[in-house]
Amino acid sequence: MQFDLLIRGGTCVTPSGVGAADIGVRNGRIVEIGSLSSADADEVLDASGLTILPGVIDSQVHFREPGLEHKEDLETGTRGAVLGGVTSIFEMPNTKPPTFSQEALVDKLHRAHGRAWCDHAFFIGATPTNFAELPQLELLPGCAGVKLFMGSSTGNLLVSESEDVLRTLQHGFRRVPVHSEDEARLRERWNLVKDGADVSMHPVWRDPEAAIQNTRRLIELARQAGRRVHVLHITTAEEMEFLAENKDIATVEATPQHLTFSAPDCYEQLGSMAQINPPIREEHHRLALWRAIEQGVVDVLGSDHAPHTREEKAKPYPQSPSGMTGVQTLLPVMLDHVHAGRLSLERLVDLTGHGPQRIYSIARKGRITVGYDADFAIVDLNAKRTITHDWIASRAGWTPYDGREVIGWPIHTIVRGRTVVRDGEVQGAAIGEPVVFQEALPLEA
Ligand code: DOR
Repeated sequence: MQFDLLIRGGTCVTPSGVGAADIGVRNGRIVEIGSLSSADADEVLDASGLTILPGVIDSQVHFREPGLEHKEDLETGTRGAVLGGVTSIFEMPNTKPPTFSQEALVDKLHRAHGRAWCDHAFFIGATPTNFAELPQLELLPGCAGVKLFMGSSTGNLLVSESEDVLRTLQHGFRRVPVHSEDEARLRERWNLVKDGADVSMHPVWRDPEAAIQNTRRLIELARQAGRRVHVLHITTAEEMEFLAENKDIATVEATPQHLTFSAPDCYEQLGSMAQINPPIREEHHRLALWRAIEQGVVDVLGSDHAPHTREEKAKPYPQSPSGMTGVQTLLPVMLDHVHAGRLSLERLVDLTGHGPQRIYSIARKGRITVGYDADFAIVDLNAKRTITHDWIASRAGWTPYDGREVIGWPIHTIVRGRTVVRDGEVQGAAIGEPVVFQEALPLEA
């Protein structure tokens, strides 16, 4: 068989396990996995000594386009993504203006065309008043679903009252990702920091109770509505325990930063660079997140890439905005955790490939399987590298991991059979396309 691309000599992580296999690609799809040494191909990529993973699907990024100039846009955001082995991103709607209408979604898709280096989809934001439109909006091409902010973060998207949350959940059927912090409690406790405080007060203001209380309320409302939810960036031991009892209706996201950093050290060492929502908490919470990874409770890893500039971050707390870059460092940081024995390579692939596919019903992505899109992160599990600010493609230009030595590094990135990163350099054209979802398959024209 003639292939467009043949990836030869690598070790592959497939649903059958980890082992030596060549991969044949035609028309952007995987058409053969096995021993293909005698096959012909237009392009051959030698992957000897390397490991081929399904391209990472990062289902929580904030790239800010169109509004917040000088921060990020779809070109720089997705450039960082592919440099980090990420082949699909789902962007959150808290942009300026927010993505809460068909026009805003179409505008983003239009801007992504020819500028996005990886495949992409956009969430529509729920507001207290747009519930009636959500069933149509969530089915639009390029829409990843409806995002619900129950606690306010960057931007002004917020649905905090229980009756509004319930109404939102009662409209539509796709899984709803939720930022779960209790807005009323955040407001009550704002006086702890509002006149200025040390950034180490961030997890005191936005305390564990704000997260736990809200996650309990959310699950109760989800049950009333009979709606599946995905609880984003979980930070507390108690929520992990509670969510383990609610796996029929709820899926769970963790982030590399909550798995890597802990308070108070992160605030002492990184200042407001460590300020994110929900906050980085004490060590016992971090260890509970790892336990939830090990026990299978966590479904997905998302980066929550939020590219605030150094100037913005330099403002005195609490005017300093919350968020850190992460799309480019997700894979190297997690490969380093694999190297340290904190999770297996198979579990990492489950969290970055099959997990997002399963929870969002993504068509043809997230596994190395015949018939699936040829999206790959080809990594060197033994490469020792140092993460630096200079490496970061985001316009924010900084990373909380600056100076960290890691073992495991993305070398080549392939999006639907096109090599967009070779030997760590972006090449070719920005050929990203909208991700397709099984729950909203495009109709034949
Ligand atoms: O720290 C955060 N920043 N958490 C969020 O949920 C939103 C994000 C942002 O958009 O800046």
